[in-house]
Amino acid sequence: MSAIESVLVENRVFPPSEAIVKAARISGMPAYEALCKEAEQDFEGFWARLARENVVWNKPFTKTLDESKAPFYKWFEDGELNASANCLDKHIGTPTENKTAIVFESDDGTVTRISYKELLAKVSRFANALKAQGIKKGDRVLVYMPMGVEGVVAMQACARIGATHSVVFGGFSAKSVQERIIDAGAVAVITANFQMRGGKELGLKSIIDEALAMGGCDTLKSVLVYMRTATPCNMVAGRDKTFDEALAGQSDECKPEPVGAEHPLFILYTSGSTGKPKGVQHSTGGYLLWAKLTMDWTFDIRPEDLFWCTADIGWITGHTYVCYGPLAAGATQLIFEGIPTFPHAGRFWQMIEKHKVSIFYTAPTAIRSLIKAAETDEKVHPKNWDLSSLRILGTVGEPINPEAWMWYHRNVGGERCPIVDTFWQTETGGHVITPLPGATPTVPGSCTLPLPGIMAAIVDEAGKDIPNGSGGMLVIKRPWPSMIRTIWGDPERFKKSYFPEEMGGKLYLAGDGAVRNADNAYFRITGRIDDVLNVSGHRLGTMEIESALVSKTDLVAEAAVVGRPDDLTGEAVCAFVVLKRSRPTGEEAKQIANELRNWVAKEIGPIAKPKDIRFGDNLPKTRSGKIMRRLLRSIAKGEAITQDITTLENPAILEQLAEKL
Ligand code: PRX
Repeated sequence: MSAIESVLVENRVFPPSEAIVKAARISGMPAYEALCKEAEQDFEGFWARLARENVVWNKPFTKTLDESKAPFYKWFEDGELNASANCLDKHIGTPTENKTAIVFESDDGTVTRISYKELLAKVSRFANALKAQGIKKGDRVLVYMPMGVEGVVAMQACARIGATHSVVFGGFSAKSVQERIIDAGAVAVITANFQMRGGKELGLKSIIDEALAMGGCDTLKSVLVYMRTATPCNMVAGRDKTFDEALAGQSDECKPEPVGAEHPLFILYTSGSTGKPKGVQHSTGGYLLWAKLTMDWTFDIRPEDLFWCTADIGWITGHTYVCYGPLAAGATQLIFEGIPTFPHAGRFWQMIEKHKVSIFYTAPTAIRSLIKAAETDEKVHPKNWDLSSLRILGTVGEPINPEAWMWYHRNVGGERCPIVDTFWQTETGGHVITPLPGATPTVPGSCTLPLPGIMAAIVDEAGKDIPNGSGGMLVIKRPWPSMIRTIWGDPERFKKSYFPEEMGGKLYLAGDGAVRNADNAYFRITGRIDDVLNVSGHRLGTMEIESALVSKTDLVAEAAVVGRPDDLTGEAVCAFVVLKRSRPTGEEAKQIANELRNWVAKEIGPIAKPKDIRFGDNLPKTRSGKIMRRLLRSIAKGEAITQDITTLENPAILEQLAEKL
C-alpha cells in the first residue's frame, strides 16, 4: 500500500490525556471551537484583538483588514512596529531578559548559551555594522549562513534596521545564489567562510565568490563574512569584510527602526510549477503576529520549555520557528549546527536527553531515516536515551505516513506526547491546519483541523465546495494575517498562481490535494497537485530541473522530470532524457547519468539531483507534440501502463524508458 493509500484508511484516534488538556492554553475542543466561532462571528474583531494582545506596536493600527485591492490584502496597515523589538527589546526589564534565548550545539558537540540580553546586544551591534555599510531601511540583504546564533543575529539585525532579508539555504548552488541576488536586487550578502556539517568543512564564501563572478549582481556592494572556522577564505578588498572588521568599534545599542505593518520583513524563494523560483514576500505585522500566536497555540509554549525545531534558517520553518517565533514567545530554544546522523544516528535522541528538550519539531523524512537507522543498529534506537523531558512532538514539510507517525508516537513520545502534524507552506507564513496539543484528538497522517480564523476548504476546479469524504483542491477562503503578500517583483504571477480567475479570483489555492474525513471533517493532505515535488520535505519544481538539464546544451536535447513515491524521501526525482547523440546503454549510460546529476547539483543544488535517470530516443508525446507526463509518472513508479495510448505518437519508446540504469 502506498503512503497516501495507507493514510486514507487510517482511523486510529489518539485524544490528548486529561492532564494535558487541563494544563493547556487552549484547553479541550470546546475552547478551540469557541475561538473558531469568535473568528466566524467577528472576523476582523478577532484578528484585531489578537494583534493587540500579541504584538508590541510603536503606533497602534486603526484598520484591521483592507480588502479593497484583493488579493493584495493589507493587514493592520497604518500600525507601526519592529520585528526585532518584538523578539528582543520586549523582554528587557522582565524576568526573561536573563533567560537563555538560544542553546547552541555545534557540529562537534560544543555547547554555548546566549541570554536574551546578550542576544539583543549582539543583534544591535550587528545592526550598527549593517548601517555602517550604508545598508538602510528597504534595502535587500541576502543571507547565506550556516545554522547557528550568527545566522539568527544576521536576520534579526536586518529586521532591526528595516532591511528585508532573503535567506538562501546553504545547500543551494552559486547559480541559484546569483539568480536570487539579481531578482531581489540585494545590496549586501551575509555569509560565512565555511559551514561545518558531519565533521566536514564546506565552503560557503567560495560559492558567493562564484555567484558574483557570474556577473549581473550590479546592486551588490558588500559581503560580510563570519569566520566560522580558522581556515582563511578569499577576501576581495573593498567589497568583503569579516564580521570582526565590520563590528569593530560598533556600539551594542541600536534603536529599532519602526516600520509599517506591511513592510516586507523578508523574501524567501521557493519553487513553483513554472519558471524560476518565486520570491515569496512576507509582511512584518501579520507575519510576526502569526509566529508568536502559533508558538502559543500549536506548541502551547511555556516559560520552562526547551523548544527545538530542527529546520534550517534557509527554509520557512527556520524563519518562523527558529528566528522569530521562539524569540517573540520568550522561549529558550536549541539550535543545532550539524546533521542527524553525525557522529551517529542517535544524535537527535542524545541531544534531547542532554538538553532536556520538551518540544521537538522535525520533518517526516528525518524520522523515516532515523527509523531505518534504528532498525539496522540497536545502539542508535531512541530507547537508549532518556526522552522523558519531551511533552509535545511536531512534524512539518510533507505528509507523514501512519507507520512513521506510530513509531514517533511510541519510541520518541513514549505514547504520552501529542503529535502536532502541522500543515503549512512558505506562502502561509506559519501553521494553518494542525492539531492543538491540548485539544485535538490526533489521527496518524492527518493534520486534522484548521487553526481558528483559517477558513480552509476543499473545492473542485471551478472553486465549488466538495463534500467531505471526496478529494479535491485545498483552498483558504478568507485572507489571514501571515499570508504571502506578493511575489517579489511579479504581482501578476502572484495573482495567477494563488488566486486563479477560474476559481473566482478570491480563493487562496494552496497547490495541494486534500480530502476531509466524512465523520470528523479532518483534513488529510494527499500531495501537490501541480508540478512541484516534495523531496525530503524540500520543494522542487519539475520545470526548474528540466531547464537545468536542457541547459547542458552540448549533451541534452530534451528532458522531462516527474516525481515518484520513495519510502525514505517521500518523493524522488525521476528524469527522462533524450540526448543529442545516440541513446547510451550499460556503463556509458551510468556515467552520463552521473554527469547529469552533478550538472543539476551545480545548477540548482545537490537536493535537486535526480535519483533516477532514464534515456530514450524520444519522449512519449501526443500527435500534437505534448509530452504525456501521466505516462512518465507511471513508468517512474514501475507501474504497468493502463492508460489509453492510442494518441501516442511513438509507443515503442515506452519500453526504452522503463529500462533502469
Ligand atoms: O505539499 C505540502 C507540504 O509542503 C508544501 C509546502 O512546502 P514549503 O513551502 O517548502 O514549506 C514546508 C514547510 C512548511 C505543502 O504545499 N507539506 C507541508 N507540511 C505538510 C505538508 N504535507 C502534508 N502534511 C504536512 N504537515
